[in-house]
Amino acid sequence: MSQTFTIDGRVIPFAEGQTILQAASAAGIFIPHLCHHPDFKPHGSCKLCTVKVNGRHMASCTTQAARGQVVESNTDELNAERRTLLQMLFVEGNHFCPSCEKSGDCKLQATAYELGMMSPHFDHFYPSRPVDASHPEILLDFNRCILCSLCVRASRDVDRKYVFALSGRGIGTKLVVNAESGRLADTDVGLEDKALQVCPVGVILRKRRGF
Ligand code: FES
Repeated sequence: MSQTFTIDGRVIPFAEGQTILQAASAAGIFIPHLCHHPDFKPHGSCKLCTVKVNGRHMASCTTQAARGQVVESNTDELNAERRTLLQMLFVEGNHFCPSCEKSGDCKLQATAYELGMMSPHFDHFYPSRPVDASHPEILLDFNRCILCSLCVRASRDVDRKYVFALSGRGIGTKLVVNAESGRLADTDVGLEDKALQVCPVGVILRKRRGF
């Protein structure tokens, strides 16, 4: 007999070792998330997937499912907290959806729509983040980075190239290119790399292709 827990009152079966997010997805329940990708080990950084497990806040992408857990996800309280996280992500970078090549195909934008985010609420940081256009085929626009580390994980675990890394701590954390010059042109990144396919926002873009 399979083991089960509940999400918002619905009984969810799970297999040993599955996380709450994995079991929920398998059962057709959507839990908002940004840094999770089914092909990669969880990173647990964006916290969009936070649910309440037996009354306590937990990231569902890193919390193992366990028999009898009572999980809340789609509640007004949790969705309001997710909206606040989104608002912080929007003001911390430079996200100008109307002029972004990824508009309409962006997980940050889609999640903001999904959760009914109507305004950024907080003051914008407007950080200075120059783009890297050094590579002949690929553009890097750091202004849109949400530090999900998906490109880091893809380049390391699939492409085996270690092209990207996160550097710094806290508010100073940033995406960097692993080259002495710091320029993408000085890496062996290629158009077929998995790292190019997993960016949920508009940071890693093929040149001469838009909208
Ligand atoms: Fe779980 Fe980002 S998806 S913390």
